[in-house]
Order: sequence, then C-alpha cells, then structure tokens
Amino acid sequence: METQLDPIDTTSSAGLRASLAGLPASFRFGVATSAYQIEGAIAEDGRTPSIWDTYCHVPGMIENGDVGDAGCDHYHRMPEDVALMRDHAIGTYRFSISWPRVQPGGRGPINPAGIAFYDRLLDELLAAEIEPWVTLYHWDLPQELEDAGGWPVRDTAYRFADYALAVYERLGDRTSHWTTLNEPWCSAMLGYAEGRQAPGRTDFSDAIRAVHHLLLGHGLAAQRMRQAAKGPLELCLTLNMGHAYPATDSAADQAAARRADGMGARLYLDPVVLGRYPMDLLEDFAAQQITVPVVDGDMEIISTPIDLLGINYYSSHFFSGVDEQGRTTDDAGRPVVRMVSTGRPVTAMGWEIVPEGFTDLLVRLAKDYGLPIVITENGAAFDDVADERGFVADHDRIAYLASHIGAVASACRQGADVRGYLAWSLLDNFEWSYGYDKRFGLIRVDFETMRRTPKLSAAWYRDLIRSVQGKPA
Ligand code: FCB
Repeated sequence: METQLDPIDTTSSAGLRASLAGLPASFRFGVATSAYQIEGAIAEDGRTPSIWDTYCHVPGMIENGDVGDAGCDHYHRMPEDVALMRDHAIGTYRFSISWPRVQPGGRGPINPAGIAFYDRLLDELLAAEIEPWVTLYHWDLPQELEDAGGWPVRDTAYRFADYALAVYERLGDRTSHWTTLNEPWCSAMLGYAEGRQAPGRTDFSDAIRAVHHLLLGHGLAAQRMRQAAKGPLELCLTLNMGHAYPATDSAADQAAARRADGMGARLYLDPVVLGRYPMDLLEDFAAQQITVPVVDGDMEIISTPIDLLGINYYSSHFFSGVDEQGRTTDDAGRPVVRMVSTGRPVTAMGWEIVPEGFTDLLVRLAKDYGLPIVITENGAAFDDVADERGFVADHDRIAYLASHIGAVASACRQGADVRGYLAWSLLDNFEWSYGYDKRFGLIRVDFETMRRTPKLSAAWYRDLIRSVQGKPA
C-alpha cells in the first residue's frame, strides 16, 4: 500500500550523495521559525496583544502553565541567531512577521518601530548571504480583530490583505519569497472548531467560515501583492498535511481516508488551485446544515495563481471508517473518520514517524495539482538530554531528518518538482499549546539563560548542506 523507502545512507558522503540523487542542483536548504514562538518582547515598541497572548494566559490552556511572553528572546538576540545560521551553512531562513507588532490592533498605519525590526533582520540576513523567506501570517491575529469576530467574519480577510500589502510595500525590495498564510487548517480547525489553539473556540460552522475567509484573505493578498510587485515575486501558500491512507481496503476505510484527505488537503488545495470546493465535502457539510459563505467572485480571487505550494510535513495517518463499537456513524449521524495507530515509532509529540508517507504525499500532490513545491517545515521533537555544557547528541533527530530528506529526494526521482527543504526549527521554542518542553530545534535554548547551544543535528545538517553543494564538510 505504501511506498517502500530506501533508507538514506549517512555513513559516508558517497552514500549520502546517492540517497540524495534526484534533488535539483538549485535545491535550497534552510530552516524555519515563527514570530510568536521565538520573538518575546510582547509589549515593546508598540506591539499590541495577539490571540496567542490572550490564549496563553487563560489557565489550563498551555502545558506546564507556560506562556509565550519571552519566547527565545529573539527580538533582542537576532544578530546572534543570524550568525548561528551563517555558521551552519543555512541558505534560506523562513520567518514570520508579527502582525500586531507592525500594525498594532490589526488596522490603520504601520508602526515604524515594529517594522524596523524586520528591516534590520532582512539586512542582517542579506549581509550573511542567507535568503529571507517571509511568512505574513503564522497564527498571531491581533486581538482586536478577534474581538470583532475573528476569521469567521469576512472583514478579517480584507484586514489581512491591507496588512499584507503594507508589509510587502516596505520589505518587498529585499526578498522575492513570500508566503501568505501558514497552515490555515490549524488556524480554522484547531482555533475555531477544536479549541486546542488560539482563540480557543469550538464551533464547526465557525471553523468552516474561517477556512473560507482565510482563503479569501490569501487570494486578496496575492492579487494586491502581484499588482504592487516591482520585481520578481514568488508567492507561496503553506499547508500542513500528511498522506491519508485507508487502514484496510474496506469501503468504509476508503471513505474515511477520502474524508480525511478532503478535510486536510482538498478543502484548501481545490479552491486555491482549481477554483472550487470539493463536492463530496460540500455534501457532508450540507448534511450538517453548514454552508461555505461564498460570495460571487470569491473563487476567482481565491484561485489567483501562486508560484509555489509550501508543504509542512510531520507525519501521515491511517484511517478507519468504523469506530471501536463497530459503528460507521457517530451519535450525530456523521460518518466515522477514526485515526488508527500502526505501532510505528513516534516522536515526543506522539506523532508516528512515516517518511514513506512524505514521498507518497509529494508524488500525489505533483500529479493532482502540478504546482512546484517547497518543504516549508519538517522536523521532530524528541526528549533531548543535554550534557553539562548544554550539548545534545540528538541521533534520533538526525535519523528523522535524514529519512525525511531522503523521502523528498525519492519523490523528486518519481517526478515531483520539489525545490527546497526548510527544517523546523532553528531553535527550540514555544511549541504553542505544548509549551517549551517540546523541543524541535537544531539549536538548544536554555530557557533560563536564553543561551543557545547547537545540537549534533545542527552540525550534521551543516555538513549535509556543504556536501550537497560540493563543499568540504
Ligand atoms: C507546525 C507549525 C509550527 C510548529 C510545528 C511543530 O504545525 O506551523 O509553528 O509548531 O508545527
């Protein structure tokens, strides 16, 4: 059922090169972060609260009672962090802009002190010969916009487009790589249906409205940025997904996998690439008296052409259409879509390690949607053990990265057009509802002192990049 993967050979540079055969010569390697997870400085230079500032201070929402107030103090340590990237051969750095830092309150003029931070960051990156990759929205909606209804409300899409254009006009001269949204599935489903992320609401019909307005905001921003572009512009939308496999060949399990793929992938890709919502999902929504709030002209805006599809991949899942009691519908009459464990090893997040799902996903996306792809996030949290110097010999993370980079190369050999790989993450950081305990960094952060210590994986990744570039390790 799944693709068999040749394990990547990291024991010799010849073996590594053979495992990576298929990656194009121009393939870019880098790392990714997001503003709220690393910046700290939540009340400095005019920044106002985002939905994450509010959510994290609600008791019980974040593990260990952690809050994102300090992050990794990147706002004050940015030059040190850029130097660490330069020293580790990082070619591309994907970071996000904090909306309430550059446009406090989510509407009105740009805050000069807030945008100045990103001015400095871009200049520092360019001086270090690192390609900047901007994400405009990585979940930190200004609280005032949530108070006005948040993403379930249409006006938020227009607020996002105004913000996106204003930032692009100020920073677009120094990079052509722009991602509009990071993972609208998380914003809509975890934020508005499941309440597991900010703003913590739990209404499925609100979540579907949020999906539409996130996509509309993306399309409006894409149109306006395209019109304003004075030079090259590579527009990207980043989606998170795995490959959805049926647990067995039964019709019920195949229907469950189709629905999981629909909610995780097609609900976003079909409107953006094909200009329509998937009919099978609309039927499921209608059965729950839910309609997508499409206004005439919306689908043309949403399907404004983009240049690249950003994929964030962590795991793949197997689905059954039968629950533990043997039923195929739940109490509300909805078809069962149940994720089943396959017993594979898991990361510290409890996510199964499924690199072959990465290959299958990329090959399928290439076939069904045809867009060039960049891996805008991939990585793993493990229970790191630091020695007395703060050093972590994270062989588990290296194995994860190696097998997943190998999976990308394998997809390229099967014809997928994948142009880059950005590891999540540069630094251990504030992992949303999981707090600071779940460490994804190539670089360890001691959250007491904010000291940075590169892990073994950082050196491994540096050597891999150098060897791919034909430079000595
Ligand atoms: C993704 C998010 C990123 C990080 C990783 C582990 O869903 O985009 O911010 O939390 O998961």
